[in-house]
Amino acid sequence: MADMALDLPADTAPAPFFGDNRTAALIEDLAARGWAHAENALPEALTHALRLRLQTLDAEDALKPAAIGRGDSQVRAAAIRRTQIRWLEGKDPAERAFLDGCEALRREINRTLFAGLFEFEAHFARYPAGGHYARHLDAFADRPRDRVVSLVAWLNRDWQAGDGGELDLWPGPDDTGPPVATLAPRGGDLLLMMSETIPHAVRETVTPRLGLAGWFRINPGVGGVLDPAG
Ligand code: OGA
Ligand code: MN
Repeated sequence: MADMALDLPADTAPAPFFGDNRTAALIEDLAARGWAHAENALPEALTHALRLRLQTLDAEDALKPAAIGRGDSQVRAAAIRRTQIRWLEGKDPAERAFLDGCEALRREINRTLFAGLFEFEAHFARYPAGGHYARHLDAFADRPRDRVVSLVAWLNRDWQAGDGGELDLWPGPDDTGPPVATLAPRGGDLLLMMSETIPHAVRETVTPRLGLAGWFRINPGVGGVLDPAG
């Protein structure tokens, strides 16, 4: 299938994924309870283009097993996390459009919450059938306040109950009761979470599951080197 053309305005500040009111409501939820969920957040053409891009990367064998932690602490622990990833580089138009939308969101979060987020990084993720990600927090214990806000966007076409891969989330790190929300990984839906305080998990998938996970960060790096081991 041919790549879908994305009309990208040149030389303008990146446009957010959706209108001002929706963006404001999303950021308000994030500030009030630590997470925010938006259905049909990505434009359909962008969801489609990103899905094609991820499928192409998969066909080219460009996805790699995900690790846990960074640098020396990386362990390929399939018991905790079984998924394949590739970091976004932004040369591909769909990747670029997604990163631009996230950049607009970053500015808006900073403007309203004085969060001081300075950059965004993201990877595609494909969970094979039987893939999962056990309950975890996204912020690394050895690099506090590095990842501040997490963003997840799903790319599954026609997700059905029974396909598995729902995302469970809990209101705080010490909450061990049932999850407060169980979200279907529907194509185009978006989730924001505070990286240090919202535990979440991906239930075992029945069919392969496509998406993106990204992080807004504040730490300018160690010794002036951005992400030395990453
Ligand atoms: C992650 C993560 C959730 C998802 O990559 O840290 O929690 O739905 N992903 O893919
Ligand atoms: Mn996570």
